[in-house]
Amino acid sequence: MLIDTHAHLDVDRFHRDRDEVVKRAQEKGVEKIINVGFDGPSSEMAVKLAEKYDMVYTAVGIHPHDAKKADDDTYELLYNLTKRDKVVALGEMGLDYYRNLSPRELQQEVFKTQISLAKEVDLPIVIHDRDAHGDTLKIIKQERASLVGGVLHCFSGSSEMALECIKMGFYISFAGPVTYPNARRLIKVVEDVPLERMLVETDCPWLSPEPQRGKRNEPAYVQYVAEKIAEIKNMPLEEVIRITTKNAKDVFRLP
Ligand code: NI
Repeated sequence: MLIDTHAHLDVDRFHRDRDEVVKRAQEKGVEKIINVGFDGPSSEMAVKLAEKYDMVYTAVGIHPHDAKKADDDTYELLYNLTKRDKVVALGEMGLDYYRNLSPRELQQEVFKTQISLAKEVDLPIVIHDRDAHGDTLKIIKQERASLVGGVLHCFSGSSEMALECIKMGFYISFAGPVTYPNARRLIKVVEDVPLERMLVETDCPWLSPEPQRGKRNEPAYVQYVAEKIAEIKNMPLEEVIRITTKNAKDVFRLP
């Protein structure tokens, strides 16, 4: 059974058919879904979804795009949400220098504040890093995020960076882009990262893997990511599923 370690089922694009999406995931061999919040309201909604669906667990946090919305009330809300059932991580948090929807200094500050919150409540973190590899590594080290560990989600850095993060106790998660025809660099990372430190995810509704590219993504499609990893690693799919699911259970302390 697979675990989709990064989904956004709380967004509008799932309002109409969320029950069917969750059911389809189950039918396709997905055992659990980690639904990841990106701001206060989305994190609240994520916790509600975990209460509604047995197979859904939650991370609560502020995405770098939404860093400009974070204030003391948001941090208090996150803190309170971490006390609820099935909240297994803080995030997603991090840096996005590709779209720069919040000023970079503010993104850094909000990232750091969430790392210290994660240390306070002893939960692993889910990191978003786009075009900000250097500063992401720097902050992970400076803030001693290795004390809680966690996941580099939808990883897009180099093998060197991946291995450095693994040394600090992190897991590397792969999404749809690893299946794309131009994924040469990412395929190299999959070759270099040990399966024992790898996770699979969809990041749905975005980043649909081949052959579903162009459609709305959903947790059922996480199988395509696992299949691609099995192909790259030249390993049986069952082995990839077994190990990545064990990894997800270890990092998020899932039953
Ligand atoms: Ni995400």
